Amino acid sequence: MENLHTLASAVRTCTSCPLHHTRTNAVPGEGPANAEVMFIGEGPGFNEDKQGRPFVGAAGQFLNELLQLAGFKREEVYITNVVKCRPPGNRDPLPEEIEACARYLDRQIELINPKVIVTLGRFSMARWFPNEKISVVHGRAKRADGRIVVAMFHPAAALHQQSLRATVEEDFRRLKQIVAEAQRKAEEKPAQPSAADQAEQLSLF
Ligand code: URA
Ligand code: SF4
Repeated sequence: MENLHTLASAVRTCTSCPLHHTRTNAVPGEGPANAEVMFIGEGPGFNEDKQGRPFVGAAGQFLNELLQLAGFKREEVYITNVVKCRPPGNRDPLPEEIEACARYLDRQIELINPKVIVTLGRFSMARWFPNEKISVVHGRAKRADGRIVVAMFHPAAALHQQSLRATVEEDFRRLKQIVAEAQRKAEEKPAQPSAADQAEQLSLF
């Protein structure tokens, strides 16, 4: 029976796209199999490729701070990426690489079944917020497949552009509130039963 461990082994030996030629280590992702919240970045960078772990370089240090602002322990969330092998020179992943790797991310989402998915940056955002701009939708939540998906800026964006830092921090500080609001909206009961429903209910007594 496939689980996160066998999936990770498959990722580490995967040759389904050209990124396998230049990787040192594939980076399947890490975190508990029953995590309620899953963070999805773009792809491994230099340090992640060396260590085989997600978000361990500068962007990872900042993500750790952001997780703390959001009130999460890093050990309690699942962290992964759209592509599991480093694009050379940290270039953007290509559409065909994202597509080749998507089955691993799909399966991780199925196996972990998180209540909340937080996308970090444009590439993971594109899956749930197609044709949207991150500058517009950052900090916004939507309901998809029975989960809540929240779009966030990539932590590295704030490291490259200092003016974004306060915005990213504010989005993470509000994360639990954003999720709670989205949950409440999804669970809102239809306002009033119709007259026909009421008649139906009365006729039962
Ligand atoms: N940036 C990402 O998108 N993912 C990582 O794992 C590290 C940096
Ligand atoms: Fe396989 Fe994904 Fe790595 Fe490409 S990026 S080789 S599809 S694990």
